[in-house]
Amino acid sequence: MFPLHRGRRLRQNESIRSLVRETSLSPADFMFPMFVCEGENQQIEIPSMPGIYRYSIDLLVKEIKELFTLGIRAVNIYVKVIDDLKDNTGKEAWNKKGLMQRAIRAIKTACPEMIVMPDVALDPYSIYGHDGIIKNGEVENDSTVDALVKMAVSHAQAGADFVAPSDMMDGRVLRLREGLDAAGFQNVGIMSYSAKYASAFYGPFRDALDSAPKETGEVVPKDKKTYQMDYANRIEAIKEAVWDAEEGADMVMVKPGTAYLDIVREVKDNVDVPVCVYHVSGEYAMIKAAAEKGWLDHDQIMMEQLMCIKRAGASLISTYFAKEAAILLNKLD
Ligand code: PBG
Repeated sequence: MFPLHRGRRLRQNESIRSLVRETSLSPADFMFPMFVCEGENQQIEIPSMPGIYRYSIDLLVKEIKELFTLGIRAVNIYVKVIDDLKDNTGKEAWNKKGLMQRAIRAIKTACPEMIVMPDVALDPYSIYGHDGIIKNGEVENDSTVDALVKMAVSHAQAGADFVAPSDMMDGRVLRLREGLDAAGFQNVGIMSYSAKYASAFYGPFRDALDSAPKETGEVVPKDKKTYQMDYANRIEAIKEAVWDAEEGADMVMVKPGTAYLDIVREVKDNVDVPVCVYHVSGEYAMIKAAAEKGWLDHDQIMMEQLMCIKRAGASLISTYFAKEAAILLNKLD
């Protein structure tokens, strides 16, 4: 009998398709990455990321309340640090009254149920734009980890629910867990950027924070390839994620997203903690630019990418589309 199978039976109409759909998306699947700056009443659009802003804390808090009503339950926070506060130690990163610490406190006061995950890495605080301390022309691992522990504890003191190390130093998850526990923060979680690739997709983000590795005339690495991973590799990603889970990470992350979905699936199959995916700034910028030119359908591409990231194995997606996608999903309900 020809044909033996008729796969199209399950695709006949939207009702049938909805019955057999294997993956779903909801606003609670998203984390929203947000940029914070000094000042009051500031909302500055990032040129390479239309629709995404750096907010001063007063406006950030308003936006966060709105996100919560849309069903978004987690935000990743990044700060734009003023140049005078940057050095090669990162000490501003654990200033109790620093921009990050003030932002965390303000969010948790205004919207206590929003899960706050501050970024733990030195690049916004580094005169060199590196995620670590530079010594003898190199990014030094262990002294950087010591700095990250101080930073994470100060985030916990400010009220962070999770800390999110994005630096890719070795051993940092274990040291962060020990440091948080020693300071009495057993319930503050770690969402580790475990498999973070050295990617050109981060370009617009570095514009947002002015955090790209800088030309200072001194001998420092010109890129982040001695700590972020080579995009030709997959074994490394699994290894890093397994190590982080063993060291105590409550969640691991793969970053970037859409070009790395094979990695997402393999990590998912190899760890027993939730896997997060960061749909990064360059991925956002590409869709916005193509849509602006009328070359792609914005909303359809957005939903397709988010759904495919989820299908690949993501429990949570950190995406600049979180708000737009949540609005769309709420309309479809
Ligand atoms: C830095 C950091 C980066 C991103 C998140 N944390 C940039 C980098 O590593 O240079 C990129 C996120 C994005 O592109 O959206 N610790």
